[in-house]
Amino acid sequence: MAALRRTLRVPPLLARARTSAGFLVTSCLADRYLWDRLHAQPRRGSVPTFDWFFGYEEIQGLLLPLLQEGHATCPLRVLDVGCGTSGLCTGLYTQSPHPVDVLGVDFSPVAIAHMNSLLKGGQGQISLSPGHPASRLQFRKANVQKLGPVTPSGSFQLLLDKGTWDAVARGGLPGAHQMLLECLRVLSPQGTLIQFSDEDPDVRLPCLEQTCRGCTVTVQELGPFGGITYFAYLVKSTH
Ligand SMILES: C[S@@+](CC[C@H](N)C(=O)[O-])C[C@H]1O[C@@H](n2cnc3c(N)ncnc32)[C@H](O)[C@@H]1O
Repeated sequence: MAALRRTLRVPPLLARARTSAGFLVTSCLADRYLWDRLHAQPRRGSVPTFDWFFGYEEIQGLLLPLLQEGHATCPLRVLDVGCGTSGLCTGLYTQSPHPVDVLGVDFSPVAIAHMNSLLKGGQGQISLSPGHPASRLQFRKANVQKLGPVTPSGSFQLLLDKGTWDAVARGGLPGAHQMLLECLRVLSPQGTLIQFSDEDPDVRLPCLEQTCRGCTVTVQELGPFGGITYFAYLVKSTH
């Protein structure tokens, strides 16, 4: 049943890629050049970002309480792995009433250039203002399987992955496993990693539980958004 569900879950991801890009995705979603082409596609209307699955507004109710929790580090450090051109980092930066230091990383230089331009007021938009005066936002090019050049171990209290595991796993589970190990390495003690996905718990949970030893793994159902039910997989470090 798990294998069947996994197969059935493939079309929505590809369908969204087709819709966003206007061309049929035949290449592997782990391929950087495919992503460069997808991220270079014109956006609809005046919205300068493009979100997979759903946007910041749909999950702010889940995120904001986590930003409020008593953390020694202020502002709270947040890493979005495979940020693409999503409005998640910008939403946190501009709307969180709690101070946040947000870093978005992606291996696509096209996505990073787009987000840096947006931050400075490009794309015909006004430059972004923080929701809290101490909040910060930056975007950097990085491979989520090798985060050493951009961040040391244990440096983020909150890690967000919206659709990136799903993309990396198309290149094979060893690559996704390597990405998960990197996420756990840069997560601070007591920190939380959240994977947002449309993949069923009976497929995702065994992968997470096998790799995330010494962590608690829980799942929350989200939506439905646009008729699709999603999941938030919360991996909390107990070190
Ligand atoms: C499904 S999209 C999700 C984008 C964004 N998180 C969102 O919610 O809209 C997957 C993202 O992961 C990025 N990506 C895929 N493999 C990567 C890797 N090995 N290192 C860094 N980014 C990667 C792609 O460029 C793309 O932006």
